[in-house]
Amino acid sequence: MLVETVRPIILTGDRTTGPLHLGHYAGSLRNRVALQRTHRQFVLLADAQALTDNIDDPEKVRSNVLEVALDYLAVGIDPDETTICVQSALPALAELAQLYLNFVSVARLERNPTIKDEIQMRGFERDIPAGFLCYPVAQAADITAFKATVVPVGLDQAPMIEQTNEIVRRINRQVGRELLVVAKALIPSTGRLPGADGKTKMSKSQGNAISLSASPNEIRAFVNRMYTDPNHLRASDPGVVEGNVVFAYLDAFDTDHASVDELKARYRRGGLGDVTVKRRLEDVLQELLKPIRERRQAVSNDLGYVLDVLRSGTSRARAITQSTFDELRDGLGLFSLAGTR
Ligand code: TRP
Repeated sequence: MLVETVRPIILTGDRTTGPLHLGHYAGSLRNRVALQRTHRQFVLLADAQALTDNIDDPEKVRSNVLEVALDYLAVGIDPDETTICVQSALPALAELAQLYLNFVSVARLERNPTIKDEIQMRGFERDIPAGFLCYPVAQAADITAFKATVVPVGLDQAPMIEQTNEIVRRINRQVGRELLVVAKALIPSTGRLPGADGKTKMSKSQGNAISLSASPNEIRAFVNRMYTDPNHLRASDPGVVEGNVVFAYLDAFDTDHASVDELKARYRRGGLGDVTVKRRLEDVLQELLKPIRERRQAVSNDLGYVLDVLRSGTSRARAITQSTFDELRDGLGLFSLAGTR
């Protein structure tokens, strides 16, 4: 007899500010492809959140909804296994966030370490958009609206999950039962992929990222400009593997770990040139990205299909998020025209 087991619920998402890159792939996309078989997975195209620091460029946010959706389909997120939905088309998320704001202090928002970093990076100084300061609360709404227990995200998002759970506990205390569920961040063990310069994480704005749709030539150029060991001048010199971007990428993407270990040993001893290691990495990346690029091209020729995926995913998500809002409205004892109270 077939037993239908209850799959744990995953909610995750991406801001729609640009096509996704290899850092997203290593940090979350490939996890999602694996997890969709064992979990009930929802992925949010977070266009409303993207607006919180891009209000001067709504066109960028709008056009990248489809770009990110194409990336999802290209890497193998399967719409039969994963619900892909558009954040701004889910009004219950905004309604929940509105309620949640009453359970958070401004001081707590200002203490969120990710928000602090981002305020600095974006140079907001005193002119912080209130929507930006409050986006962790909106993200708490995203996560809890789906009753997600697992949130696969990069390390920088851990404070968001912590803040979500504080809100969950406060609301449940107020309501007097476990209406919302506590979520756990699932952070990849591989750590964060460095950019080509080795100094920062891969980031499009820093110009050291490679998109998932990169051409073979772009892939080659990206590998060629990777930072290695500046003191490793001749192939015969001993080299340093730590902080060497090429090895960081081999660790992340070459599935033959034993032979990567051998390469590292040879590099340390001396006798292995940067060019040889770079060619090997290039082969790995060409092989990884070729099917992704081809699938993306194929799907982008059928935008009708992509829109259907988004429509049906969003409509499924609308029902779920609306029902969480209704439950919370009743749980808090707010007035309801539909009910008897
Ligand atoms: N903040 C996430 C990012 O910067 C995107 C996001 C929006 C998200 N809502 C989410 C991630 C809910 C996890 C869960 O990429």
